[in-house]
Amino acid sequence: MVKQYGGGDMCGIIGYVGDRPALPILSRGLSNLEYRGYDSAGIALTGPELTVYKKSGEVSALQSILPKSTDHRQGIGHTRWSTHGPPTDENAHPHTDPSGRVAVVHNGIIENYEALREELVGNTFTSGTDTEVIAHLIAAELDGGAAPKAAVEAAVDRLDGTYGLVVTIAGVNELYATRQDSPLVVGHGTDGVFIGSDVTAFLEHTRDVSYLEDGDFAVLSEDGLTLYREGEPVEPVIERLEYEANAAEKSGYDHYMLKEIHEQPRALRQTISGRIDIDKGGVDIDIDLPDAYIDSIEEIQIVACGTSNYAGRYAASLLESVVDVRTTVEVASEYEFTGGRDPWRTLVVAVTQSGETADTLSAIRRAKRAGARTLAVTNTLGSTIVRETDDSVFIRAGPEIGVAATKTFASQVATLTLLAVSIGRTRGTLPYGEATELLESLRQLPNAVQSVLDREAAVKATADEYADSDAFFFIGRQLGRPVALEGALKLKEISYDHAEGFAAGELKHGPIALITESTPVLALLTTGTRPSETLNNVREVAARGAPVIGLATDSKGQSSSLDTELSVPETGMLEPLVANVYLQLFAYHVANKKGRSIDKPRNLAKSVTVE
Ligand code: BG6
Repeated sequence: MVKQYGGGDMCGIIGYVGDRPALPILSRGLSNLEYRGYDSAGIALTGPELTVYKKSGEVSALQSILPKSTDHRQGIGHTRWSTHGPPTDENAHPHTDPSGRVAVVHNGIIENYEALREELVGNTFTSGTDTEVIAHLIAAELDGGAAPKAAVEAAVDRLDGTYGLVVTIAGVNELYATRQDSPLVVGHGTDGVFIGSDVTAFLEHTRDVSYLEDGDFAVLSEDGLTLYREGEPVEPVIERLEYEANAAEKSGYDHYMLKEIHEQPRALRQTISGRIDIDKGGVDIDIDLPDAYIDSIEEIQIVACGTSNYAGRYAASLLESVVDVRTTVEVASEYEFTGGRDPWRTLVVAVTQSGETADTLSAIRRAKRAGARTLAVTNTLGSTIVRETDDSVFIRAGPEIGVAATKTFASQVATLTLLAVSIGRTRGTLPYGEATELLESLRQLPNAVQSVLDREAAVKATADEYADSDAFFFIGRQLGRPVALEGALKLKEISYDHAEGFAAGELKHGPIALITESTPVLALLTTGTRPSETLNNVREVAARGAPVIGLATDSKGQSSSLDTELSVPETGMLEPLVANVYLQLFAYHVANKKGRSIDKPRNLAKSVTVE
């Protein structure tokens, strides 16, 4: 038999029990969660019997087979991103036992599912998934006379692997949920209780939430949440989220990504608000790093994936040049604590907007095992990274739904800049004057970004002109290099074009062979990017016929070699970050012109929680 896992770990889960019709809540919740996975979806409604709907394809495919309304007041839902096995109707969740009494939705991978299946001799399995066996185990416990809660607990005890799991049983007015290395959060509503993989599942209904910890067991009923920790009932901690209820909506934009690009000025104001003291040349980011420890740091290691890795690279240049601390950036999946480093003098910083990326979590666990101190820079309160690191700083960008990260990149760099100033001032390596200059740049950032957003039409015209090019190259030096890499990543993620970012000086040592009249080059020519040297590289590619789009500070980088110039307002060392907004808009408009699925690009997911 072909080995197929169904769960696949980057899915969206939702559950509801209460006084209101469950179907519309579950259906809309799945739409809100679709950025976590969009190749098949399903819903199970609970009454004296279970009613299950599932369909391969996007959530809209499922919604097209749902009834207009039903009386059910309880149910669970799931949208999937498969890691193993094709996205078929059979492999879609919820999965049930042969009698159809038990339905489960699952995020994660059950490692021992085949062994468990072999024990259930005589059971017929209808999918190739790892998840289905959980429903069979629970039904077997119920057949053995166990009460519903005890049956679920007994089945969970048999599982090896990772799971965010929600269970519903026919005729039982309770949902059961538990987690192991996969996120689950409960929402406390006035007319019912919700559960989801993240808050966007139910944010429009409530902002009062409780995050489940690994091993927690939750019972959800009309009376709300009853939480068990190590088998004992405990009082749940309820947190109120700052986010607006409509934060998970498009607010009139065609795509979440465009909305989030335009939200950057507000996100950046949230990121810096109350954290800057220009008069003192200091910052307050509320981290618990003792001054003596900060003085003792010999190295800062940043671990991250994707866009977060490029935010880390931006910060590393700042930390090295402005604060004089050796700083290295690692792709999290490659990270090992090696090289004879002194763990007591190495601070390992995880940059991750979701706080759930498995590669980054594993890197942090390796650092901790080595004895290093760890710090998370994240956008997600209550996420696993927050629980696993010694300290955490929130970037406060608000929920980001578009799979391609945009506003969180800007808020990550701004937060890491605050961290750099904090460490530099404590160590005495960042003089007052330089500190206030950097903080002043941070304060000007939201307006500078807004002025770039106000020039969207010019970017759209440039994108329309070059959209059908063969390939795209992004070049930059110093702080311009991580932005060049990020610009290329954005275009790859949403337009599926061949795009590459390069250190500008490296182009002539090989990649320039790819340059033709149909390979536009986007060049960073701002403060912090050594623009005059990059202009030499601009001339080299222009001489080979490539159209060049220059992102230049008002007073720098003017050159006849530029076919298009997009001017960047003066904001010192953060100008490349401002210029990045042009690259986000460029990628968006190229992809939009090609009719791409911008919020749900093929093969991607917002947070990858398997290694
Ligand atoms: C990828 C996302 O799955 O994970 C990227 O598509 C993101 O946008 C990357 O940058 C890292 O995610 P996080 O949540 O760890 O910052």
